[in-house]
Amino acid sequence: MTTILDGHAIAATMRAEVKEAVDAMIANGARPPSLTAVLVGDNPASSTYVASKTKACKNAGLIGETLRLPADVSHETLDRHLRALAANDEVDGILVQLPLPDHLPTRTVLETVPPEKDVDGFHAESVGRLWLGEPGLTPATPTGVIELLKRYDIALSGAHAVIVGRSDIVGKPMAALLLRENCTVTICHSRTRDLPAMCRQADLLVAAIGRPAMIGPEHVREGAVVVDVGINRITDAATVEKLYPGNEKRRRGFDKRGSTLTGDVDYERVAPLASAITPVPRGVGPLTVAQLLVNTLTASKRRQGLA
Ligand code: GUN
Repeated sequence: MTTILDGHAIAATMRAEVKEAVDAMIANGARPPSLTAVLVGDNPASSTYVASKTKACKNAGLIGETLRLPADVSHETLDRHLRALAANDEVDGILVQLPLPDHLPTRTVLETVPPEKDVDGFHAESVGRLWLGEPGLTPATPTGVIELLKRYDIALSGAHAVIVGRSDIVGKPMAALLLRENCTVTICHSRTRDLPAMCRQADLLVAAIGRPAMIGPEHVREGAVVVDVGINRITDAATVEKLYPGNEKRRRGFDKRGSTLTGDVDYERVAPLASAITPVPRGVGPLTVAQLLVNTLTASKRRQGLA
């Protein structure tokens, strides 16, 4: 029997726990935690993500604001806004939604967020603290994955975790967090030789590549735990048929909505092999938002001297 790791349900529990903690803070006379998301330009996916983050803040009793700036904003202007947010004592968390337009220096921009307000954990100091095992804020997506695995009592200590993807947002911090849990960690990427054989060594396989349905049954040892971080929207029928030949359910969903959402894992063919697996949607996606609230709560408590 395969366990479906219900990220949607775990995220709902995490959000309820945050709300309870925020209510208690307010009852004790503290400020509610406050997050400002900075959104540059009008990338539809980024706009959707930021809207869901600020809505989740409000539902959990946090203050969630969005600072919208035009796609052609100068680095100087963005920098001025970020410094004002950094100096504003009532802002606990600052999040710069990525990707930024090409003319902006992403790394330099991320270093402008003070580490104590860095709820994404993207500042170089936050990254350093993560690898050193020092306290600090850690990236929401991989941290949410750890939370999910722990809440399902999945044993991590001594397990061989294979991560496919080496991004700064998921792959690298996922490796650091799993190492912290005493996993043996392998990071694979586009230059890895014989990827299926590498992946078949995994007790825990984390797919964070951004390529729809790339991980198939040939990558998965029977009984492995599979975590799918990918969120890929497919909008053309030919690709659906190529990735999912003869899959009637997929095709009907696509015909109805004009698109289909798929992870990096070929779920239908991999799930029967796995002991546990995250679906897409309702897997890792909701955990990212829930963990961001947890991070903002943590930042706020530390900043208000409550932690
Ligand atoms: N873009 C894709 N994922 C993320 C994330 O976790 N945080 C931010 N700020 N931007 C992203």
